[in-house]
Amino acid sequence: MYGAEGGGRKGRSQEGKRSGMEFSAEAKARIEKLKTRYPEVQATLLPVLHIAQEEFGWISPEVEECVAKYLGLPPTQVHGVATFYTMYNKKPVGKYHIQVCTNIGCSLLGADHLVQYLAKKLKIHAGETTPDKKFTLNEVECLGACGFAPVMQINDHYFENLTKEKIDDILKNIEAVMAERDKELQPPAPEAEKEKAPEQEQGE
Ligand code: FES
Repeated sequence: MYGAEGGGRKGRSQEGKRSGMEFSAEAKARIEKLKTRYPEVQATLLPVLHIAQEEFGWISPEVEECVAKYLGLPPTQVHGVATFYTMYNKKPVGKYHIQVCTNIGCSLLGADHLVQYLAKKLKIHAGETTPDKKFTLNEVECLGACGFAPVMQINDHYFENLTKEKIDDILKNIEAVMAERDKELQPPAPEAEKEKAPEQEQGE
């Protein structure tokens, strides 16, 4: 069995091990913007950990240190929050992080069989990453979409009412499926752009 630990979604997971690490200028700008929206810096911790995960691929002890230093919070507080929530990766993950809910609602509708199916298909166990660092498979607690069980999450996207056939389709077309889902998450065009549209039409 493979057991290799993969690279982060943005291929920066190994940077999670770097010491003395720092956020990029872009990440810092996002964090500063966040700070203006919350009365207390503590309240930014969850979204800042998300930014850190995007930036470094996973939340290593060095990343916790970087977050604590940047926000001026005690490292123990950052560690406590980062290790409490399953949405923060505690070790490097593959490009596509598959998290299957195996809580009671999904379990009753076959989630455990689906985990086994995925494990067999990817030739890994739950908790492992494929040698090509493309997929990581994990079991997680309730994803909050029990009405659509069984459910899995791949990176930021939910896939509901799962069947083996649906899993086959998703994995077969993973690049296209994820690109399409990513597109859906894009923010709408800025107001200025929308206002320009009618003028452009008149001029045509
Ligand atoms: S039990 Fe699976 S989403 Fe809630």
